[in-house]
Amino acid sequence: MVLWFLGFGDFGLRKATGCARGARCSGDVPGTAHYIVLSNALVVRTVVSQLFRSLQLRDVEFANRTWVSPMCQYSAVDGLVGAWHLVHLGVLATGGAGLVMAEATGVLPEGRISVNCPGIWSEAQVAAWRPVVDFAHSQGTKIGIQLAHAGRKGSTLSPWADHLMASEEEGGWTAVAPSALAFEGYDVPHALSSAEINATVQAFAAAATRATSAGFDVIELHAAHGYLAHQFLSPLSNRRSDQYGGSFENRVRFLCEVVEAVRAVLDSGVPLFVRISATDYTEGGWDLGQSVRLAKQLKVLGVDLVDVSSGGNVAGARIPVGPGYQVHFAETIRSETELATSAVGLITEPEQAEEIVASGRADAVMLARANLRNPRWSLMAAERLGEFIVWPRQLERARTLRA
Ligand SMILES: Cc1cc2nc3c(=O)[nH]c(=O)nc-3n(C[C@H](O)[C@H](O)[C@H](O)COP(=O)(O)O)c2cc1C
Repeated sequence: MVLWFLGFGDFGLRKATGCARGARCSGDVPGTAHYIVLSNALVVRTVVSQLFRSLQLRDVEFANRTWVSPMCQYSAVDGLVGAWHLVHLGVLATGGAGLVMAEATGVLPEGRISVNCPGIWSEAQVAAWRPVVDFAHSQGTKIGIQLAHAGRKGSTLSPWADHLMASEEEGGWTAVAPSALAFEGYDVPHALSSAEINATVQAFAAAATRATSAGFDVIELHAAHGYLAHQFLSPLSNRRSDQYGGSFENRVRFLCEVVEAVRAVLDSGVPLFVRISATDYTEGGWDLGQSVRLAKQLKVLGVDLVDVSSGGNVAGARIPVGPGYQVHFAETIRSETELATSAVGLITEPEQAEEIVASGRADAVMLARANLRNPRWSLMAAERLGEFIVWPRQLERARTLRA
């Protein structure tokens, strides 16, 4: 690691980096170097890792490419986030990640997975999210929200309850889906009419408007893991005979309409991500070839990054789980579409994450469980890779790598 400490005056500092003295920000000097503004000096050094290079998507600059994957917490009341979310996402926001993606958040009450999942269908929910977003921003951390509709996999209790489906008295509802086909262990859903599909598309757009008013930097649409949009994509869950079912063009129509409606209400500077499951791992289902075709359409519609996961729409599908087992899907989609991708799934080691980004297999990595185990995983990863990045002042004494 090569370091120069430059004792700039205030003006020089601001001119060189766009940051004020004491701002504790970092960024790239095109091509060669990375800078950090600490309390009284500008530190410039050669870039060591690719994982800790910044990434610009529209108007948002992510400080690095190690991101926190969305994770349901089943801890909201009436769709309102509270103290648990502030602490959970707050600690993650102090952990050095370039982006913290908040969990699947219902665009409608019946779009939640469980009765304890958060929502963003009301202004009260916007107000509840705001302190979480403000805290992340106070740490210089970008925060996104995953807008979701669970479809036929909705109306459950939390995973730690003693049964799965929530009764009406427990706050449950009749789940909806493209077709009246139940996911194993769940109730038979109501098949959406075209008017109800249209209302759902509008609900995504309204939720996106609310999310940006809450201050979120990024919007991600959840079209993976067997939830509503994925249910439309896969012939195994979509048996419709109207314009939303049958051919590839018809099955992708719902998601494309959601993307168009959301992009239309978003400021042009706000990045839009879509999480997909690249395959159902089941004969006759959704697969990688269709994912590539879909990603090409999403790119034209103004999506900035595809977050590539897999599975979730077919119970008992045989999934070859192992370290980085979904990375090759992100790699194929990236190389065939030239659209940015993020890779997720059993990425646990800094060197592994570095290899994925440095070899161009994905533009960023998303980590879920590794961040539950250690919410400051990214600070640890930076040290392991020899990177000196900005830490919260309160944590400085724990550094093991000195500038
Ligand atoms: C507790 C928990 C909650 C999750 N909730 C969501 C979610 O809200 N949205 C989503 O797209 N994926 C969700 N996932 C999946 C993760 O984002 C991630 O894709 C998956 O865990 C694989 O990554 P990992 O091996 O790093 O954990 C969840 C995973 C966990 C462990």
